[in-house]
Amino acid sequence: MLLTIADDYHDLSRQAAQRAADLLKVSPAAAVIVATGETPMGMYRELAALKQRGEVDTSRLRIFQLDEYLGVGDDDARSLYGWMKRSFLDPLEIRAEQVVRLRGDASDPSEECSAFDRAIEETGGLDLAILGLGMNGHLGFNEPPSDHELPSRVVALTPESIGGSARYCGSADAVPRRALTAGMKQLMAAKHSLLLVSGERKQSILKRTLEGAVSPEVPSSYLQRVADATVLADQDAARALDSARG
Ligand code: PGA
Repeated sequence: MLLTIADDYHDLSRQAAQRAADLLKVSPAAAVIVATGETPMGMYRELAALKQRGEVDTSRLRIFQLDEYLGVGDDDARSLYGWMKRSFLDPLEIRAEQVVRLRGDASDPSEECSAFDRAIEETGGLDLAILGLGMNGHLGFNEPPSDHELPSRVVALTPESIGGSARYCGSADAVPRRALTAGMKQLMAAKHSLLLVSGERKQSILKRTLEGAVSPEVPSSYLQRVADATVLADQDAARALDSARG
């Protein structure tokens, strides 16, 4: 695993977009799993600007949804697919047929997750995972405890994640209690992954992710064992790291 420290959020977003663009130049038909959350929004805006300038071709990409609230359909304002569509798919002119979904309102959510894993397998695995870091170390909604072997599945959200999502759903009461998530196994097997971490409030969980014990209690800590994972953190997030102290 590699750590890159960016000057600030803008620098982090720019570097992340450039890395993704470089990879997509080499692999224009890449399978990419895409996080929502606040952190990658700057990266997606930068990527859209690169696309406008003709520096990124998205026409052959295969996109995988990282997570979704259980019971939430596309018309629901809380839909993570809706958020991904507004922030990533539409600006990058990616068509619905290019996307493999985790549908929150699937009639059989467990089967939806199994079919999702089969689709990843059939495509030859993920080429790029774009991830954010939860305050509790979750990746997607792989809530602690989650080990590195767990497949995509339906999970119960922890109080910490419910609290974290409250600002996106209006209130904690409006946050669904369960979700579908891409599995740790599928994420850890991605050929490249990019974990984006920004802001002072992530200092402690970033430190546990990079310098703590590898443990299901901090699902993101498994990235320590992934050679082709890059953690891109801004200085505000990285300040407490031993490596940042030199
Ligand atoms: P954030 O969310 O980017 O909004 O901080 C990260 C996460 O909870 O996965």
